[in-house]
Amino acid sequence: MCGIVGYIGYREVYPILINGLKRLEYRGYDSAGIAILNSESHIYKCKGKVSDLEKHVSGNPIHGNIGIGHTRWATHGEPNDTNAHPHQSTGGKFILIHNGIIENYVELKGRLKNLGFSFKSDTDSEVLANLIEYVYLNGNVSAEMAVRLALSQVEGAYGVVIMCTDEPDKLIAARKGSPLVIGVGNDEYFLASDATPIVEYTKSVIYLSDQNVAIITRTELVLKTLKNIPLTPTIQQLDLDIGEIDKGGYEHFMLKEIYEQPRSIMDTFRGRITTQGTELHLGGLYQVIPRLVEAKRIIIIGCGTSWHAGLVGEYLFEDLARISVEVEYASEFRYRHPILDKDDVVIAISQSGETADTLAAVRLAKDAGALVLGICNVVGSSIPRETDGGVYTHAGPEIGVASTKAFTAQVTVLAMMAILVGRRRNILDDKQYQHYIDELKEIPGKIEKILEHAGEIQKLAELFKYVNNFLYLGRGYLFPVALEGALKLKEISYIHAEGYPAAEMKHGPIALIDLNMPVVVLAIKDHSYDKIVSNIQEVKARKANIIAVVNEGDTTIKQLANYTVEIPEADAIFSPLLAVVPLQLMSYYIAVMRGCNVDQPRNLAKSVTVE
Ligand code: AGP
Ligand code: GLU
Repeated sequence: MCGIVGYIGYREVYPILINGLKRLEYRGYDSAGIAILNSESHIYKCKGKVSDLEKHVSGNPIHGNIGIGHTRWATHGEPNDTNAHPHQSTGGKFILIHNGIIENYVELKGRLKNLGFSFKSDTDSEVLANLIEYVYLNGNVSAEMAVRLALSQVEGAYGVVIMCTDEPDKLIAARKGSPLVIGVGNDEYFLASDATPIVEYTKSVIYLSDQNVAIITRTELVLKTLKNIPLTPTIQQLDLDIGEIDKGGYEHFMLKEIYEQPRSIMDTFRGRITTQGTELHLGGLYQVIPRLVEAKRIIIIGCGTSWHAGLVGEYLFEDLARISVEVEYASEFRYRHPILDKDDVVIAISQSGETADTLAAVRLAKDAGALVLGICNVVGSSIPRETDGGVYTHAGPEIGVASTKAFTAQVTVLAMMAILVGRRRNILDDKQYQHYIDELKEIPGKIEKILEHAGEIQKLAELFKYVNNFLYLGRGYLFPVALEGALKLKEISYIHAEGYPAAEMKHGPIALIDLNMPVVVLAIKDHSYDKIVSNIQEVKARKANIIAVVNEGDTTIKQLANYTVEIPEADAIFSPLLAVVPLQLMSYYIAVMRGCNVDQPRNLAKSVTVE
């Protein structure tokens, strides 16, 4: 999720680590830290920016030629000085930085506590440091072997770099699911979670593959698998310029975040679906699940894109769990004198976890005695701290003001919650439950397919970049996506756009339609397909330019619409996760072509912490 740097060689390591962490700042993070080995181990870490870390270190310049650095985006344990990386094992022998999530950390932590290990932080990562030390001491093995044996007990995703005080001339790095790159110099090696901190020193790099371990000394790199099978490293030449590295090679954060979605959705369900792929576990709901299952009513609150995700949640909970749902703008809810009681469950959705209206609505609902849950992205932010339970989205930092990957992560969490509650309420049988879990696992691959066709969407954007108005239509699960598509376009391109339920068009907006009004119709093959085809006919009769988002292989709508964008078929409940992607891309390309500031659109703030 966040950033890793490491160095071993002949240079002073401190400036390399600090500069490297600065290069990784674009990824977003909440805390930073470094560890340097000389005759002793030195660890400095703190909540906040790399510049705060520099202040923290100043006055104590540390000399050394081997070290590791980390920028953390909290997933387990709030952002604070103690939870920041690096983490050191109880006996002090291992120091580690970790990106990703150790899914079975609770079980491992329990075992290690019984064996006498102590824990300073709330992170999953510290568990790994202690597990390695346990294997090392107990098995009387080398540091490298301890790392490999410990990692084979770990479920989840990791990019790790480890130092051992008994073998102070070595860095051990391993990955599964979280990227790591090794820069190869002359008698020196650089390590990082992406190439940006490395490129100014060397262009020769080795990309670690999953389950690979690298044992690196100043003069040698040994590559092997977790199971100790030797590998021959392939050195590649970086095709990256220092000028393009700010956003990981993408022109804008928004584009980067759109492309991250296959990965971020996987991070959202990772660890929540058992390794056998048969069960859903949402740890943040354990304490409250009986009340959620018994709920008479669910009220979902949020603002903007998070409110749109909430609307998808309404369809999900009503379809899969048969619980009645209301979706409210947090700002209206809090001032409306809402009627709430103990059988109500309020779910607050917020990427930042800090939106002022949503937070105020959370407090109001708690005071009224409702069970209040949160679906948030930023760990340790205000809403998760004040709610009775909830589920983090784990989408990673979202920097572009226009929300993209946070929306798909929120919908993923809502789907998992509705599937889980639906099964507990016996609305879904085992077969349906399994079917939905299997379908969810397919979604990241399907988004990849949509992203492969980004060029076609770019061509469409070219055709429509100068229009002044846009209409978005959808039905059922895709009505909220129509709203979200319109919001994305408004926010970043400043084109007026409206989203509507397709059938509502006849009750007013149809008056707007003429040949100057492009209409985006979301028309997948669900139970209302025939109805949406009729809606398309109505629009066509008024000469509008129709851009239809359809399922692959659709022939009927292709004959009616002026342009079609295909998305893979999926169960209707997951269709928002797919249909929103072309709309995000189209808004993005139109905004870029109009010369707009995509990542920081005028008048907007990433997190609205005032009313
Ligand atoms: C989305 O693109 C927005 N910029 C905005 O609507 C946002 O979703 C809203 O402000 C809510 O933010 P939150 O999810 O952090 O609470
Ligand atoms: N899961 C780890 C933590 O919460 C690592 C997070 C990261 O990738 O930055 O500390």
